[in-house]
Amino acid sequence: MDVVIRNANLADGRCGLDIAIADGRIAAIGVALPVRGGREIDAAGDLVTAPFVDAHFHMDATLSYGLPRVNQSGTLLEGIALWGELKPQLSQDALIGRALQYCDWAVARGLLAIRSHVDICDDRLLAVEALLEVKRRVAPYLDLQLVAFPQDGLLRSPGALANLRRAIDMGVEVVGGIPHFERTMAEGAESVRILCEFAAERGLRVDMHCDESDDPLSRHIETLAYHSNRLGLHGRVTGSHLTSMHSMDNYYVSKLLPLIREAGVAAVANPLINITLQGRHDTYPKRRGMTRVPELLAAGIDVAFGHDCVMDPWYSLGSGDMLEVAQMGLHVAQMTGQQAMLDCFAAVTTTPARILGLDGYGVAVGCHADLVLLDAADPVEAIRLRAARRLVLRRGRVVSEAPRAAATLSLPGRPPQVDFRLRRAD
Ligand code: FE2
Repeated sequence: MDVVIRNANLADGRCGLDIAIADGRIAAIGVALPVRGGREIDAAGDLVTAPFVDAHFHMDATLSYGLPRVNQSGTLLEGIALWGELKPQLSQDALIGRALQYCDWAVARGLLAIRSHVDICDDRLLAVEALLEVKRRVAPYLDLQLVAFPQDGLLRSPGALANLRRAIDMGVEVVGGIPHFERTMAEGAESVRILCEFAAERGLRVDMHCDESDDPLSRHIETLAYHSNRLGLHGRVTGSHLTSMHSMDNYYVSKLLPLIREAGVAAVANPLINITLQGRHDTYPKRRGMTRVPELLAAGIDVAFGHDCVMDPWYSLGSGDMLEVAQMGLHVAQMTGQQAMLDCFAAVTTTPARILGLDGYGVAVGCHADLVLLDAADPVEAIRLRAARRLVLRRGRVVSEAPRAAATLSLPGRPPQVDFRLRRAD
């Protein structure tokens, strides 16, 4: 074996397991495996998980905070205007440099797969070329999936549809959209129809910024579910943000949730961004803005949490830490029950991996040996501590390493259901 990790806890609750790795894949998982590794790693009862996955990001804008100025109002619309000011000044070298810097941050935090939207409204498609280059360069250590994103509106921005087609032809894999930013509700709905039909024709996935608004009458998710169902796109379509659902009438939502489920559409909430961008027109009480995560989950709909922005025109903070994202999502959605907290961990690992369609993802024999050893015993402790990443492995190779904290918390008397360290291996 190339590597053997000893005495690991897994996110599904199994404890005290060894994980053997050969040729970049997981070769065996079991108690006290009778094998030797070229490198032996003692997990010492800490959590080994498949890597973090970010289902929603903007790598063309990341780390541009302050260029050419900061967002004074803190609103989505000023952010879009600010990005419009920055776009003509972008250079390919700067885009690539910032994106590579962010990918380094991501890897150090065990974030090994990112779906990034890339703005295609600039006729030069500078950002598309830059991020395709970044995708090629980071491929040995990070999966970067790109979405052709008409930031200024598919119908509102001249040439956007032609540019989107060009971007797809150049190698961008997912069809994006922004129906709530079109000029009218009708044009928003029309953009959803055009984009879904294009995706169906080309056999592509769809991920739209959808209803990123506090307007309860922004109902493009209904149209997205309708066309996904009509065109048989089940399992390939994602509605990102869906913040208008926060403000919708409860009766309408009771009809909407089964429609989303029926269409096999997944949802991505972006807790850090939704809690800061939404509700800006409110006085008090001030809406939280994030979509209805527990209700979507209860309806059987996949929900992932995305980071969305790091140090860009929309958000001045962030570090590529998906545990920070999970922690914010947990708080904003009040998901404090045991299962709910585990669901928040899944929202930054297994669920987005399914949404991206990642191949060979997971902690199971035959999966890629892409693993993160956290300085925490279980997913809840990982979120609570925003635990350090002791080790990050990509295809069985250690790509990032950090020391274990000197002291670990031990509270005697905690029952096994809340303390993984008290459990025994299966
Ligand atoms: Fe976004």
